[in-house]
Amino acid sequence: MKEQLLTKIEGHSAVIAVIGLGYVGLPLAVAFAERGFPVVGIDVDATKVAALNRGESYVQDIPSERLARLHVARPHVVASDAVPTNVQRVNLGTFTATTDYSVLAQCDAAIICVPTPLNKTRDPDVRYIISSGESLAQHIHRGMLVVLESTTYPGTTEELLRPMLQQSGLRVGEDFFLAFSPERINPGDPIYVVENTPKVVGGETAACRDVAVALYAQIIQRIVPVSSTPTAEMVKLLENTFRAVNIALVNETAIMCDKLGIDVWEVVEAAATKPYGFMKFTPGPGVGGHCIPLDPYYLSWKLKTLNYNARFIQLAGEINSDMPRYWVNKVIDALNEAGKPLKGSRVLVLGVAYKKDIDDVRESPALDIIELLQAKGADVRYHDPHVATLSHNNHTHVSEPDLDAALASADCVMVVTDHSSYDWPSVRQQARLVVDTRHVL
Ligand SMILES: NC(=O)c1ccc[n+]([C@@H]2O[C@H](COP(=O)([O-])OP(=O)(O)OC[C@H]3O[C@@H](n4cnc5c(N)ncnc54)[C@H](O)[C@@H]3O)[C@@H](O)[C@H]2O)c1
Repeated sequence: MKEQLLTKIEGHSAVIAVIGLGYVGLPLAVAFAERGFPVVGIDVDATKVAALNRGESYVQDIPSERLARLHVARPHVVASDAVPTNVQRVNLGTFTATTDYSVLAQCDAAIICVPTPLNKTRDPDVRYIISSGESLAQHIHRGMLVVLESTTYPGTTEELLRPMLQQSGLRVGEDFFLAFSPERINPGDPIYVVENTPKVVGGETAACRDVAVALYAQIIQRIVPVSSTPTAEMVKLLENTFRAVNIALVNETAIMCDKLGIDVWEVVEAAATKPYGFMKFTPGPGVGGHCIPLDPYYLSWKLKTLNYNARFIQLAGEINSDMPRYWVNKVIDALNEAGKPLKGSRVLVLGVAYKKDIDDVRESPALDIIELLQAKGADVRYHDPHVATLSHNNHTHVSEPDLDAALASADCVMVVTDHSSYDWPSVRQQARLVVDTRHVL
């Protein structure tokens, strides 16, 4: 069984399903399709599926032209009788999208890339893993490889997904293969993409790991096998907790320097000249995105079940999530210096994406900043070349259409995201008052 699957993988004839076609799943699906694999994308969102089947991408890192190129790729193995009639083709067979899980009957591998958010009490919300696992369990078959990529707590693959899949009557390592491989995609990164970012892989058994390693090795230059799925799950959580803690450290350093009358940026730049033992992190308005503000809580939740309090995670979370308040106080101070109260003043938030040059506003500190400013009676406007509208707390904001006019009419301009397309000298020239959370001015 293992040899059969390996032969299909190495011959690029294995049919691959990617479940969850978001920031992570779509680039992965495209990477496999571009290597000639027949790829089927499955998503519960019919709007996304329809867009993909029209050849339209909604993920910034995958321009529609790349999907369009797949249209003309060589006709492929997803033969018409292998795909249900409701599955439309975008590309003569190398990439198709569907909402219908029954297509899995024809697939050799299924890679799960569904969201793993937190619930209101900031505990893991694994409902998407459960629902995709339940759907998968109905269609899993002998010889299939299943890989979970969604970031989650150590033990999810073994304790949650494996029993669900085994309810089919099939046994892991004997009838099917199961692995965990954390996604490391860095949206907007022009250098590190799917193909050149090393990929960590842990299997439920040695055979599971070998098959998953073989699959990823077809599209990724370096694979890092580890001994188990909990190990692979923990690797991802260490990576993101490392970032969360170090960002919190530098944010707190900024607060301390502020109190001491020292320029934190000069300190960071000078410290960064040390050729070993120091890694540069920069202070800012807080943390955002689907990873750093959320993933560490998956780990601390798991540790709570073992009666252990993950203190670094808790402290880093407190410091980072308090940064929007710190910066709003800076706006209040700056306006005060200019003889104005925040209430009634117009504040222009420049950039609302959680980091530069991307369009993702999930967990962006800009959302908290806008909310805090509005709660204090400010007239808040925003401008972001990547984010045309911003829906938050049942309210939809629209990006200011004329940047120059918006700069000129603001009592205070708050730089929140340092998009490369901004002309900073012009911002400095036009703004009456600036609070710069990114040190671009
Ligand atoms: N975005 C990133 O930068 C990033 C980086 C590394 C890891 N991750 C992790 O990857 C995972 C996915 O993140 P994302 O940013 O791609 O999320 P996303 O919200 O962009 O995409 C997830 C997709 O899954 C779909 N989906 C939800 N339930 C489904 C189901 N039962 N069956 C099929 N499709 C379903 C959604 O409709 C959505 O299109 C998360 O665990 C995240 O933590 C994200």
